[in-house]
Amino acid sequence: MPLSKLVASLPIHPSKAASVRRLMRILTISGIFSHRNDDELQEEERYVLTNVSRILLKDHPFCMAPFFDVFFDPKLLKPWYQLSNWFKKCNTNNSPFETEHGMPFWEFSSHDKKLGSSFHDAMTNDSRLVSSVVVEKFKGVFEGVESLVDVGGGNGTMAKTIAKSFPQMECIVFDLPDVVSGFQGNSENIKYVGGDMFEAIPAADAVLLKCILHDWNDEECVKLLKKCKEAITKKGKKGKVIIIDMVVGNENGDKGSLETQLLFDMLMMVLVTGKERNVKEWAKLFFSSGFNNYKIIPIMMSSRSLIEVYP
Ligand SMILES: C[S@@+](CC[C@H](N)C(=O)[O-])C[C@H]1O[C@@H](n2cnc3c(N)ncnc32)[C@H](O)[C@@H]1O
Repeated sequence: MPLSKLVASLPIHPSKAASVRRLMRILTISGIFSHRNDDELQEEERYVLTNVSRILLKDHPFCMAPFFDVFFDPKLLKPWYQLSNWFKKCNTNNSPFETEHGMPFWEFSSHDKKLGSSFHDAMTNDSRLVSSVVVEKFKGVFEGVESLVDVGGGNGTMAKTIAKSFPQMECIVFDLPDVVSGFQGNSENIKYVGGDMFEAIPAADAVLLKCILHDWNDEECVKLLKKCKEAITKKGKKGKVIIIDMVVGNENGDKGSLETQLLFDMLMMVLVTGKERNVKEWAKLFFSSGFNNYKIIPIMMSSRSLIEVYP
C-alpha cells in the first residue's frame, strides 16, 4: 500500500503524513512491515505486510491484536516503572503490579471489568490457536479420557474445541465465580463451574492447566498440583494432569525463541508471582507435589509445550 493510501485509509490528518512515513520507516526496519519499490519510476514508497503484521489483522483466524491491546494497556505498563522500588524490598511475594495497584492482578482484573474482558479476549485468541494445534496434531493425548476439567479455563475456548473433537468426553470449565458466571454450558458435554482452584477442583480423569502454573510461584504451584492430584484420583482411577506452558530453553530453541520465553518470564515477574520454568524446575514441582512421572511434548516450536504428569 502506498503511503498516501495508507494515510487516507486511516483516521489520520493529512498534515501528519510525513510523521506516518517516519513511523513506517522504523516499523519496516523492525520487520513489522517490509518495503516494496518494484517500479523504479514510482516514487512513492509502498509497504507490504510481513508474517508479524499479518497475524495482527482483525480478520486473521488467529489474530493476536487483543494480546497487544491488553499488555500495552497503561494499567499493565505502569507496574514496569515499579521494578526499581520492588527490587529494593524484601517481600518477594508481592509483584510490581501489586506495588502499583495495591492488589494482585487477578483481584484487580475481576474488579476492572474492561481490563478483565480485554485480558480474556487476549487469552481466547491464544487458546484458539493452541487448541487448534493440539486437537489437530496431538489428539492422542486425550484418547481414553472420559472427563476433563479445564482449570482456570476462562471463557472455555480451549475446552470447547476439545469437547467438539471428543463428543463423548464430559468437559468442565472451572474458573473464578466472577469469570464463569456469565457463561452457559451446552446440554451435551460442556459445563461451567465457579470456584477457587486452591480450595478444591472438580473430579475428572484429566485436569488441564493451560497458561496457569506460570502465573504462580513454586509454593503456590505445589499447592495447586496437590489439588489436581486429588481431583484425578477421586474417581478411583489414576488420571493425569495436562499442562500447556513454556519450557524455557527447549532443545530446538533458537536465540529469538529463548528471548521470547525470557521476556514472558519478565512479564510474569512484573504482573504476577509466577515465572517461566526450565525442565529441571518443572520436574522439581511435579515430584514435590507427589507425582511420579512426566512427559514433555513440544507442540509449537519452543513457544509452548504440553506436559503430561502422572501420579
Ligand atoms: C492466564 S489465564 C489462562 C486462561 C486459559 N487457561 C487460557 O489459557 O486461555 C489464567 C486464568 O486463571 C484464572 N484464575 C486465577 N486465579 C484462580 C483461582 N484461584 N481459581 C480458579 N481460577 C483462577 C483466571 O481467572 C484466568 O482465567
